[in-house]
Amino acid sequence: MSFKNQIDLTKLPEHIAIIMDGNGRWAKDHNKPRVYGHKHGVVSVRNIVEGAGEIGLKHLTLYAFSTENWNRPKLEVTALMQLLVNTISKEVDTLHKNGVKLTTIGDLNSLPNNCSKELERASELTKNNKGLNLILALSYSAKWEILQAVKTIANDVTEKSLNIYEINESVFASYLETKDIPDPELLIRTSGEHRISNFLLWQIAYSELYFTNKLWPDYRKEDLFEAIVNYQKRERRFGLTSDQLSN
Ligand code: FPP
Repeated sequence: MSFKNQIDLTKLPEHIAIIMDGNGRWAKDHNKPRVYGHKHGVVSVRNIVEGAGEIGLKHLTLYAFSTENWNRPKLEVTALMQLLVNTISKEVDTLHKNGVKLTTIGDLNSLPNNCSKELERASELTKNNKGLNLILALSYSAKWEILQAVKTIANDVTEKSLNIYEINESVFASYLETKDIPDPELLIRTSGEHRISNFLLWQIAYSELYFTNKLWPDYRKEDLFEAIVNYQKRERRFGLTSDQLSN
């Protein structure tokens, strides 16, 4: 039986986040430059978004470019930005037709102008769509996000629009980039690396982590469905005991 048929649609996670990793190694395995791997990574993005839509997932966050990725060779950074612009402009109509809402998290101001403009255009066009919320993390890092939140909170306290004693977990979360999105129940990382790489540190406090050796350009919807089936077999205890949960 396919993994898709094994999914219990009544127990679907609301939000899945993915660290897409392994494009460079995939390109190396094919004796090609790194950018070749990124281009094939886009094929996986398309396939995974399609799969997420098929099962009715509400939110999918893809870690497309981290704050640290700016330190990569200039040629690779430029190619990644161009790939992003080209992909969005090519796919936005299909996304829109399929009810996908495109949103972003991260420091959009640091992106090249044509890139942030294209993203703004796509977000504006799709903002009322009720299907999958596709969140691209771009020039994003969790430490950057948390520092931004702390600065804004400090400013609001100084200006007396926020009382220091009112600050709790939900107030803090409302200052994060992800304020309108539930925390991911499932975080997937491809390519066999077992780390979080500065991604959604606050939001994954209780996420289930799933690691696969597949390199991102080889990752397809059946792999996503396999991760969901694996997730659905887990017992999420949130600090409680198994007995407490079954009572
Ligand atoms: C990690 O592989 C991948 C990235 C830093 C970029 C991901 C970008 C894409 C898949 C294409 C554009 C995305 C969208 C949403 C249109 P790596 O380069 O770190 O691989 P390595 O660890 O094998 O070197």
